[in-house]
Amino acid sequence: MAGKITFTIIKPGAVSHEYIGPILKIINENGFHIAGLKMVGLRRRQAEKFYAIHKDKPFYNSLIEFMISGPIVVAALEKENAVEEYRKLIGSTNPEKAAEGTIRKLFAESMERNAVHGSDSDENAQNEVKFFFSEIEIFSISENSIF
Ligand code: CMP
Repeated sequence: MAGKITFTIIKPGAVSHEYIGPILKIINENGFHIAGLKMVGLRRRQAEKFYAIHKDKPFYNSLIEFMISGPIVVAALEKENAVEEYRKLIGSTNPEKAAEGTIRKLFAESMERNAVHGSDSDENAQNEVKFFFSEIEIFSISENSIF
């Protein structure tokens, strides 16, 4: 059964361009409840851990440098079928291929500086929320939450 939680990062490029407000507005307008929210700065070893799955990719080093280059905003988002619904809302990883009206079409600068991250499975969503949040920082409205 599809879960009700997904996880997002508003990445350094979007934060520095003052897109936090506009992106959160779109998230709310599309029916997501913001169950957890904070601005943080990743240290290198934390970024490397979060993106460990990509460590053999040619873009890995550059991705890590980018993700530690400035503050990020992390959020736990709730909606029915959250992972799939949020991936639809953010659009393709490559902003040139992202559909009109999607967050990446509106705010991404490139494939790497693609404005936001979104979990790609329920299992990863749970792990990613737990990576950034503790139980007292999540205000879930659904019964089977993460903690
Ligand atoms: P994200 O959803 O955070 O997951 C992995 C990230 O790697 C992705 O968004 C992009 O920022 C980056 N990425 C994925 N593919 C490429 C690519 N081909 N070139 C550069 N960066 C990429």
